[in-house]
Amino acid sequence: MLKVCVCISGGGTNLQAIMDAIDAQTITNTEIVKVISNNKNAYALERARKKGLDAVAVSPKDYENREKFHEAFLACVDSAQPDLVVLAGFLVILPPLMIKKYAGRIINIHPSLIPSFCGKGFYGLKVHEAALARGVKVTGATVHFVDEGTDTGPIILQKAVEVLPDDTPKILQQRVMEQAEWQILPKAINMIANGQIISSMEEKNI
Ligand code: GRF
Repeated sequence: MLKVCVCISGGGTNLQAIMDAIDAQTITNTEIVKVISNNKNAYALERARKKGLDAVAVSPKDYENREKFHEAFLACVDSAQPDLVVLAGFLVILPPLMIKKYAGRIINIHPSLIPSFCGKGFYGLKVHEAALARGVKVTGATVHFVDEGTDTGPIILQKAVEVLPDDTPKILQQRVMEQAEWQILPKAINMIANGQIISSMEEKNI
């Protein structure tokens, strides 16, 4: 059974997609053992609690400095003893020690086709604003392993989504979530839970 800790910051639609996929058994061999938010008011916490999951907030605002927050955050993750950490709309830089300790066991969903529109400053609506400003006809989402960089780890899955002429950033974000994020994040977790992605971060020939 893959024990998963999901880290969130906002609305939690990706968390909801994971929970729904577990219920529908399109994700098997998996249990969400903890949901952690840096934001006490994240609706994602509400979604988790409704499912009876262990959902907690570890907020930087409650710590005197970044280092103390990092210590508390890592201790909270460790307390769940997860096999996999999933960043699902998580907007906080991870403690460097955590990236080392969980190397190859942290994945992230990013709302573009990496390497486009990613890296420092590219999150949430800003990603879609940049895609529309550039005039791309196709965008999408990427699930990747997390390394020391920002959106730079090995890519696991990607899914393309059409950009339409009248798209606003909000409309495009919703289409990317519905048609890509909520599909490929559960799929990646299921692949990891069922041994289809090995620790050297390469997919087995399946
Ligand atoms: C999504 O676009 C996700 O790709 C990005 O944050 C947005 C909100 O995600 N990382 P969620 O609704 O909180 O899952």
